[in-house]
Amino acid sequence: MSSSSSPSGSCLPGMVFNAVQEQATVEFVRPMATNTWVVRLKAPEIAKRMIPGQFFMVRPASGSDPLLGRPFALYDICHDSNGVVSGLEFGFVTVGKMTSLMQQWTPGETVQLWGPLGNGFPPVACEHLICVAGGIGQTPFRAVMQEALGNRIYGHPPNRRGAKPVKATLLYGVRSKDYLAGLDDFRIPGLEVQIATDDGTAGHPGYVTELLKQQLNQRTDGVHVYCCGPEPMMHAVATECARRGVRCWLSLETPMACGFGACFSCVTKVKEPDGSWDYRRTCVEGPVFDASTLVFSE
Ligand SMILES: Cc1cc2nc3c(=O)[nH]c(=O)nc-3n(C[C@H](O)[C@H](O)[C@H](O)COP(=O)(O)OP(=O)(O)OC[C@H]3O[C@@H](n4cnc5c(N)ncnc54)[C@H](O)[C@@H]3O)c2cc1C
Ligand code: FES
Repeated sequence: MSSSSSPSGSCLPGMVFNAVQEQATVEFVRPMATNTWVVRLKAPEIAKRMIPGQFFMVRPASGSDPLLGRPFALYDICHDSNGVVSGLEFGFVTVGKMTSLMQQWTPGETVQLWGPLGNGFPPVACEHLICVAGGIGQTPFRAVMQEALGNRIYGHPPNRRGAKPVKATLLYGVRSKDYLAGLDDFRIPGLEVQIATDDGTAGHPGYVTELLKQQLNQRTDGVHVYCCGPEPMMHAVATECARRGVRCWLSLETPMACGFGACFSCVTKVKEPDGSWDYRRTCVEGPVFDASTLVFSE
């Protein structure tokens, strides 16, 4: 394993330079659900720095096909038998070139990682934390809930001071039960999990946003919502939260080329205090944004 430090902070204003490049070793790739996989990598330098909601870029260890790295969110960190952080896991759906290669990774293979990148979710500061996940958008919420419920500490140095919520709920929607990924990983003491499937094959028949409405019908005071998933779903969640005065953060999955602020391929529209809007780079100013600051495309 080798690692090297990130570039000097002077060239990329606003970014917290905690990122390193690391040759990571594949420990396993296992199916999680239809077309969905979990990977464990030995990558201690990046794993020990990551906080929930951050991401890293993945590339083959050598060659230039694909040329660009691909972004993936932290699912969780792993520890060795001495309790020292040894690596990380992430989940993915096979959609194209890189994910098709990743599906075939074998134990012992090396791959190139660059991270941690992005801001991550804010430390929890509410009585009831509701995480709303659509499809593979569930992946950031394992670490979010582990941290919120006091089971794990993330980041180096470990300086996030969240408050343990009185209640924690994961609302997880997929198109059909065969796409439910990692349910066992969300059997966390103190976490309530509710499922929705579009075709009614498991849990609530319908959209996960209907489960959110049910939750918010019971209570809005002291509730914060974290959300990740397809853009129309995140738009619906943001709209519902805004209507009821509930604070909401979204983790955007904007396609990215560099991941560290240099190429501007990942911009999203963010409201300015004077009522206008401007572009922000999702990779450095995000991927997590306060939903009330975002301008959604209609
Ligand atoms: C911050 C962040 C975190 C992410 N975390 C995860 C994760 O944990 N698990 C996971 O499965 N995916 C995640 N993604 C999406 C993941 O990066 C893409 O699925 C991946 O880059 C596809 O690579 P590929 O080479 O297989 O596909 P490509 O061959 O590059 O593309 C295949 C098709 O997918 C489209 N595509 C590629 N990236 C995206 C995207 N971000 N959004 C919509 N369409 C896209 C392309 O336009 C093309 O049509 C994340 C994205 C971001 C920005
Ligand atoms: S991906 Fe290059 S600036 Fe964001």
